[in-house]
Amino acid sequence: MHDKSMPCTNYFQIIGEVIYASIDSIAQSRHISYESAHKEVLKYLVSNSAQWNSGRQPIIKYEDPLCRIAYLYGIVSVNANLIEFIFRNDQELSEFVDQTHADNGQINICAFGGGPGTELLGMAKWLEKRELGYPVILDFLILDQIKEWLESWQSIQRKMEFRFKNHYGVDRANWPINVSRGFCPIDITSTESFGNLGDVFGQDLYILSYVVSEIFDFAPT
Ligand SMILES: C[S@@+](CC[C@H](N)C(=O)[O-])C[C@H]1O[C@@H](n2cnc3c(N)ncnc32)[C@H](O)[C@@H]1O
Repeated sequence: MHDKSMPCTNYFQIIGEVIYASIDSIAQSRHISYESAHKEVLKYLVSNSAQWNSGRQPIIKYEDPLCRIAYLYGIVSVNANLIEFIFRNDQELSEFVDQTHADNGQINICAFGGGPGTELLGMAKWLEKRELGYPVILDFLILDQIKEWLESWQSIQRKMEFRFKNHYGVDRANWPINVSRGFCPIDITSTESFGNLGDVFGQDLYILSYVVSEIFDFAPT
């Protein structure tokens, strides 16, 4: 039976489930308590924030899974909301997405620095709320130098699809979106990396959300 009372894509619920499972498994693998691991996450929230506000290129230790959890915990929902806001309010963009989907049967999206899954969440919420009556096919190409992000991206996708299954049934034709994804762990500042990537520049949409600010120092005022 489909649960029609469930709300639309809920960032905090999806991210919360991903975070809880991740902290638990990291605590176990490091032989520390859940509480100690959680404290480390909170420390990263503070130190990352100081880095982003430093006026220099921030040094964020995304290699550490607890740092990635801090990003999921503190930032992803806010940025996903921004992505959703942009798609909802930019009529030209919305029409382009609809027309491209009508013409090609899917939208190819390249997310620079899209490792955490923010772009997926924001677009999922925007499309689900529109209640189009057919699944929009989203094919993501993620470019992010931290390959470990793939784990949480996949985890977000699975939690989201689990909810779709409960809410709309097992037939994906009744879901608001169907998602596929490729992940390229490259440094986007290195032109050599792009040489091996084939069709990067043949996508329909390119999203650069809070990635440029991690690459350059702020311009002097
Ligand atoms: C502030 S996060 C933004 C994540 C997401 N786009 C969002 O809006 O929440 C920056 C992302 O860019 C990635 N990144 C930073 N420098 C990069 C580089 N030179 N090449 C590839 N990815 C990079 C980081 O791993 C991280 O996932």
